[in-house]
Amino acid sequence: QKVYAVVPAAGIGKRMGAALPKQYLNLDGRPILSHTLSRLLAHPDISQVVVALSPRDTLFDQLAEAGDDRVRRVDGGGERADSVLAALNAIDDDDAWVMVHDAARPCLRQQDITRLLQQAGTQGGILAAPVRDTMKRATAAGDIDHTVERQGLWHALTPQLFPLVALREALAQALAQQASITDEASAMERVGWQPTLVEGCISNMKVTHPDDLRMAELLIKEL
Ligand code: CTP
Ligand code: MG
Repeated sequence: QKVYAVVPAAGIGKRMGAALPKQYLNLDGRPILSHTLSRLLAHPDISQVVVALSPRDTLFDQLAEAGDDRVRRVDGGGERADSVLAALNAIDDDDAWVMVHDAARPCLRQQDITRLLQQAGTQGGILAAPVRDTMKRATAAGDIDHTVERQGLWHALTPQLFPLVALREALAQALAQQASITDEASAMERVGWQPTLVEGCISNMKVTHPDDLRMAELLIKEL
């Protein structure tokens, strides 16, 4: 079966507060999205990359990776899940598996892609990292209500790998029912799937705030 990568990249990067959407900010000499795409394209098991972009995006075509014949662009939507679904709808291959990966995670390692492909089971799988710090549940006033048992808690990362048709149906249903879904796995979980947690490297961080950009700048040089 073919594996396609889907990259939601239609966000505006509100929390970053920069002049450009964060996927176009410079990281070690080129835009974040350029790093993300080249890391996916470098993996021998990924046959195509579908990137969901804002219809008004004029920066994408200037990226070196935009000229790669394995890369396609589609118009994204209002929320991340709409952008992912738009990309899935553009893939005409019912036997395919798709690996959905945030544009804003440029520090993805080849080894993590390989591990996800090898360890995800028939129910799909996601890269994830065990929580290391003690977790607190706060009261409305911002004091500690109680300590949450850390054992068994994971950070959900991307990529997240699922069969194309099943993920398309699950996302379409979640959107139709206005369910709050923040990743692909949550859409699958609500229709009864049990995706595998595949331990990934914590350097595969999402660039969200200005501080994260400085951290990513350090990490990208290590890959
Ligand atoms: N994304 C998308 N379509 C949207 C919203 C987000 O494709 N309508 C993408 C972003 O471009 C990003 C990924 O989903 O690569 C993860 O979302 P997030 O980190 O929240 O990015 P933004 O939505 O751009 O940032 P913010 O929430 O701070 O505005
Ligand atoms: Mg967002």
